[in-house]
Amino acid sequence: METVDLLIKNGQVVTAAGHDGPVAGENMNELEVLENGCVAVKGEQIVAVGLEDKVMSEVQITDKTRIIDATDKVVTPGLIDSHTHFIFGGSREDEFVMRIQGASYMEIMEAGGGILNTVRATRAASLEELKELGRKRLDWMLKMGTTTVESKSGYGLNLEAELKQLQASYELNQEHPMDIVNTFLGAHAWPEEYKDDHEGYIKVIIEEMLPKVKEAGLAEFCDVFCEKGVFSIEETREIMLAAKEMGFDLKLHADEMTSLGGAELAAELRAVSAEHLLMISDEGIDAMRDKGVMAVLLPATAFTLRKPYAPVQKMMEAGLPFALATDFNPGSSPTPSLPLAMTIACLYMQLTPEAVFNAVTINAAYALKRADQIGSIEVGKQADLVIFDIDSYRKIPYFYGVNLVDKVIKKGKVVVD
Ligand code: NIG
Ligand code: FE
Repeated sequence: METVDLLIKNGQVVTAAGHDGPVAGENMNELEVLENGCVAVKGEQIVAVGLEDKVMSEVQITDKTRIIDATDKVVTPGLIDSHTHFIFGGSREDEFVMRIQGASYMEIMEAGGGILNTVRATRAASLEELKELGRKRLDWMLKMGTTTVESKSGYGLNLEAELKQLQASYELNQEHPMDIVNTFLGAHAWPEEYKDDHEGYIKVIIEEMLPKVKEAGLAEFCDVFCEKGVFSIEETREIMLAAKEMGFDLKLHADEMTSLGGAELAAELRAVSAEHLLMISDEGIDAMRDKGVMAVLLPATAFTLRKPYAPVQKMMEAGLPFALATDFNPGSSPTPSLPLAMTIACLYMQLTPEAVFNAVTINAAYALKRADQIGSIEVGKQADLVIFDIDSYRKIPYFYGVNLVDKVIKKGKVVVD
């Protein structure tokens, strides 16, 4: 019998297991939960899951095994934040005040603020400074139960600063318990230097940035902010096709402020995911479903910008799978908290606690192409687990504004205790 390093027992275990593909439609409201469940871990892996009798018949405890009693606690897979921009210099609380007083996000951006504001601060920061800021934000996220995070560039907008930003999250991935998945988002805004030469900047992205990022192995995904006044459908297609050709997987900021056809484009390009989608068309929903593109929805952004939420009920009816993420960034979503995003999704998108858990675990794993390793509590998967100090998973989105996390286990190690 296998000896184990860690045994968690007597908990309500949300396994989110039992799926061989992304969860969609009515199945979003089904969540596998074990009462009085037990999870056994050896090294970095989950080796047994189930009721205590079953697990104890499969594994052996030694005097080195750490036993955690999770009575009146909930055990979940490590939460996965599949869309963030957490590496950035500066902050934008002045714009927060402007928006309180009535200015819109796009008005601020068109006046040279917004993303470009953060670009100036990020360019001015050193690699070490960006890493220090990033490390602190990773600690925030880890303490709230996130164990894997996607990290987008896009605050450099020139070769050197884009590489610096990606390098910061690449190095943090080695140094911090969090797993970080890098996405190149050089097409996040038109840099000041190229505001009247869009072709010139696209050339820089395709001929300089993408090949360098690929060569250095600094990003897995390529993303574009496809939006009216930012990157058009044609410009987005050109960049995405070049990225695909170089071997990047694709993500897309699509149909956020205007219904531009970004979802349809993501389907045409067989992107892994299309994100935001507040203004997605009915055709876009069907096209994404038919081509297997995951919707990544960002309720904290709609909340912050006071915009209508993505039409998730239509997505459920159409059978389009979706994940939920924070979009953590200094402008449109200054929160690193997935539990808060889950609460907003329940209250304003009328999602059940079961649906939001599926959306931040197994479906989020699919959005990052890691569903074979993370996103559920199943034998053979990485031991990324969260223990919440509350006796029902339904109370996690319900009691908001308080951090309910008791412990976080990352690759078998207790990293928040
Ligand atoms: O996903 N929409 C574009 N990009 C980010 C916002 C970035 C920023 O405002 O700094 C987003 O919301
Ligand atoms: Fe974003």
